[in-house]
Amino acid sequence: MPISDYKTALVTGASSGIGAAVVERLCREGLEVHALARRADALAQLAGRTGAVPHALDVTDLDGIRRLARDVAFDILVNNAGVDRPGSILQADAAGIDLLVDVNLRAVLQLTRLIVPGMAERNRGHVVNISSIAAAYNFGGNTTYHATKAAVHMLSRQLRIDLFGKMVRVTEICPGRVATEIFAHVHGDTAETRARFLDGFALPLASDIADAIAFAIAAPAAVNIGHIEIMPTLQVPGGLSTMRAGQPGD
Ligand SMILES: NC(=O)c1ccc[n+]([C@@H]2O[C@H](COP(=O)([O-])OP(=O)(O)OC[C@H]3O[C@@H](n4cnc5c(N)ncnc54)[C@H](OP(=O)(O)O)[C@@H]3O)[C@@H](O)[C@H]2O)c1
Repeated sequence: MPISDYKTALVTGASSGIGAAVVERLCREGLEVHALARRADALAQLAGRTGAVPHALDVTDLDGIRRLARDVAFDILVNNAGVDRPGSILQADAAGIDLLVDVNLRAVLQLTRLIVPGMAERNRGHVVNISSIAAAYNFGGNTTYHATKAAVHMLSRQLRIDLFGKMVRVTEICPGRVATEIFAHVHGDTAETRARFLDGFALPLASDIADAIAFAIAAPAAVNIGHIEIMPTLQVPGGLSTMRAGQPGD
């Protein structure tokens, strides 16, 4: 169905990266797009550029998102806000675990609870959840991040069951590495971070992910694109580690 059949969208994590690109794309399609993130200045710039409605709000602010869900009948919900912290669970601290669970999972559940019943009632809507390849594959990274994204993966599948019989679609987007600010946010905005994650790599851009989301939303109403994995051509998950006790592994 043409994206223009929808009227309103909420995009979380809209102040940079994938979220900002999705806002730009949906605004170009003529939707009333509500852009949510904490950084008011970045949102104001985005709003000036695109006409989006800015909401400088922490996605974990339950009263704030409750008000937003009450005030606007959203046709599209893009659960994109996400954070990560370096290190495995062996290095994790309590605050880091709480933060990732609160932003990556709890807020997604709360927004779903607050917004999706209205979509079901109106028999129209589209939920787009941005998880990660970390939801499906194991690799050296942050264990809590993997766990929260795997939960978003299962939520996306379960939501389709909850919505069975309604014309409300659910799409999970699983990006591999995308050239955004996330690496600066997680590891510090330094030349070392850029060299490790960005410089010299041929990576998908945030706009490429926004294009995939627009494709899923623009699919005919009878078509639910449930899951899209998008990786750099020169990135692949997988591997198997085995070692003899007390000896270095291969
Ligand atoms: N880039 C990648 O390689 C990659 C790969 C796989 C999955 N992803 C996922 O893609 C999504 C977008 O990430 P990105 O790469 O675009 O990174 P990004 O540039 O760091 O964007 C993250 C966004 O989330 C917002 N955010 C963080 N905490 C928030 C909070 N408490 N309340 C409201 N907004 C909050 C940030 O805005 P404020 O700081 O202004 O609040 C920002 O707009 C995330 O869910 C991430 O896990 C990214």
